[in-house]
Amino acid sequence: VIADRMDQMINGFAFVELPAFAPGFDTFVKLEGLNPAGSIKLKTARSIVRSLERRGLLRPGSRIVESTSGNLGVALAAIGAACGYCVTLVVDPNANKRSIAAMAAFGAEIVVVTERDANGGYLGSRIRRILAMVADDPDLVWPNQYANENNVNAHRDSTAEEILAGFGAPDWLFVGAGTTGTLMGCVKRFGPYRDRTRIVGVDAVGSVTFGGPAATRNIPGLGTSRVPEIFDASADFEPVMVAEADTIRMCRRIARTYGLLLGGSSGTVLAAVHQLRNRISPGQRVMVVSPDLGDRYLDTVYNDAWVIEHIGAEALDEQRDSVLGEGVLSA
Ligand SMILES: Cc1ncc(COP(=O)(O)O)c(C=O)c1O
Repeated sequence: VIADRMDQMINGFAFVELPAFAPGFDTFVKLEGLNPAGSIKLKTARSIVRSLERRGLLRPGSRIVESTSGNLGVALAAIGAACGYCVTLVVDPNANKRSIAAMAAFGAEIVVVTERDANGGYLGSRIRRILAMVADDPDLVWPNQYANENNVNAHRDSTAEEILAGFGAPDWLFVGAGTTGTLMGCVKRFGPYRDRTRIVGVDAVGSVTFGGPAATRNIPGLGTSRVPEIFDASADFEPVMVAEADTIRMCRRIARTYGLLLGGSSGTVLAAVHQLRNRISPGQRVMVVSPDLGDRYLDTVYNDAWVIEHIGAEALDEQRDSVLGEGVLSA
């Protein structure tokens, strides 16, 4: 492949099987961490920027401001660098240090919000900060990934389309929910396949998106402290919640069993497959969307001291595994 620009290098057709992940059915992972800028969010950033350009809202030197838990910021910073736009990213203390370093390497300005909002998260605080910045400077362009239909359409037209074109309609499709752009986009594109593919939306315990009570979360990527505008609770998917301790155990088992270092949200989504394993019929094919790889999480998910401090020592104890239980991956 010889590309004109780095965002043309998006690798949408990398699917890897996890042999014997669960007895009876076949589990595959769609690896989005192989994209430039390291995550699925390059598609979101590309779609958002293209739409702003089409509407004449971006000129060379324009400044984009966005709230991000990490990956969208890295992707926007990369696209901004490639297209000649300035980028300001509003992050919080849960944001990954390596992601922030990458944003800075691409030349973005970083603003860290430290006060928690009424739900104990940071999203409300990040949005408040952006509203104040936009009020001060009307030339700032705020795409607002939580309310931007181009976030949904990016995944309808790429992530979901790539699964259909490169793999075919799976029996089950498991997708994590952050802004819910990936989930809503997959639900839209798989509408005509409703009878063949069951979609499961996966979120972290403590997130409010699916209606659960708010609680502190430590792993970036999934979850919100405020329901995103693009989320449609009546959409055709099944919600599943996963505890952060199960995310940690799953990530670590996948690394040791398959030599695949996946990001935190990928472990969450795989833990949801395990949670539903008794409902998945023998011979069925399960597809899991993995938004990023694990190298950005070596200081957190894969670091014992961090896990003990933030999640609890039980997350390192496979015998106390609340979800993983018997069998899977233990052989
Ligand atoms: C690592 C990771 N996983 C999952 C997600 C969730 O994707 P979405 O925002 O499309 O719901 C994100 C979004 O930033 C992410 O960075």
